[in-house]
Amino acid sequence: MTNNRFLPYSRQFISKDDIKKVVTVLKSDFITQGPEIINFEKNFAKYVGSKYAVACATGTAALHISCLALGINNKSNVLTSAVTFVASANCAEFIGANIDFVDIDKQTHCISIEDLEKKLKQNKKIDLVIVVHQAGHSSDMEKISKLKKKYKFNLIEDSCHALGGKYNKFNVGSCNYSDISTFSFHPVKPITTGEGGMVTTNNKKIYEKLILYRTHGIHKNSKKFTNLALAFDKNNEPNRWYYEMTDLGYNYRLTDIQAALGDNQLKRIDKITKKRNQVANFYKKEFKNISSLTLPVVSKKIYHSYHLFTILLDFKKLNISKNFFMKKLAENGIGSQVLYIPVFLQPYYKKKYNFNLKNFPNAMHYYERALSIPIFYDITKKELKKVINTIKKLTTNI
Ligand SMILES: Cc1ncc(COP(=O)(O)O)c(C=O)c1O
Repeated sequence: MTNNRFLPYSRQFISKDDIKKVVTVLKSDFITQGPEIINFEKNFAKYVGSKYAVACATGTAALHISCLALGINNKSNVLTSAVTFVASANCAEFIGANIDFVDIDKQTHCISIEDLEKKLKQNKKIDLVIVVHQAGHSSDMEKISKLKKKYKFNLIEDSCHALGGKYNKFNVGSCNYSDISTFSFHPVKPITTGEGGMVTTNNKKIYEKLILYRTHGIHKNSKKFTNLALAFDKNNEPNRWYYEMTDLGYNYRLTDIQAALGDNQLKRIDKITKKRNQVANFYKKEFKNISSLTLPVVSKKIYHSYHLFTILLDFKKLNISKNFFMKKLAENGIGSQVLYIPVFLQPYYKKKYNFNLKNFPNAMHYYERALSIPIFYDITKKELKKVINTIKKLTTNI
């Protein structure tokens, strides 16, 4: 089945049992807003070690309702990492907040602590920092939480890459150092629901807001009804049909079909992360002597989830372009991707903010060299050898 298949940089793995679980839901009474969502949320919170988990439609929706739940508005100032998927910045733009980018750490490719503090010291009050656990390597949460205490900002961990990873023995998502952690279940991510997301938090008030913003800003809690004449009958019983919309929310719900898939995948997350680490270690062993290739660095305190395996290639030294390198890989059935183009280079952000590229030397250094190569749960030894041999050839024979 896996013979000669194209090898993307990442892909889903759906087991026979996953399919069975999804079919069971399809045959049941509830295909959305039923028991599977509650079950998935409960098991997810238990796995990451948070008090609450809220399932939602996508990782982007997770970020959006997180900003809203933290009270971010069109007067807020938000910082995020310069190298991330656009959604980490767009969630603030949706609300009309002001966004600025922080350069990345040259080694870990997560937010640079030095550059973050530089931005926090400026006159502007920063309301929210969204750190990104790039490729599945946690940001330096101890240092960031010290800055949080000093400069008093809200903190979201964009953990879309990092389910299965750890920082200081805490599972990513525990929110031990932050207000909120967000996840994506897009097919390339550690576990998938097709499209999907999750938010975790330890704060009850934030949790209640997340629930509200996920479903149109509507609630059915009779104790909180304000329009009493409409809400209650003559006997002071709440009217059975009645609900109130108190905030402008969205339909960002996950279906029970998706939740059943996610929950079954979650059962395998430790196995998945272990396999991704094995693949990463194999690559590291095979590539360690290639002078034009820099391997990912893992800081102390970190258990990497290896959502991505990103190498840095010195294309100047190789005397070829990145595009040519990617083309050669593709001709050999190997996918690769640049994750990501620094967000400040995107035309939308360039036009609106016109950031000075000189302020992001590490992001530009990364962008010129980075290439993510195949890493996923069911990649075979034979397939890995093909990737390794092709890259060795391309880095020595050109
Ligand atoms: C770092 C990061 N944040 C947010 C997202 C958005 O997730 P989704 O695609 O589920 O909306 C992604 C997805 O690629 C991501 O990689």
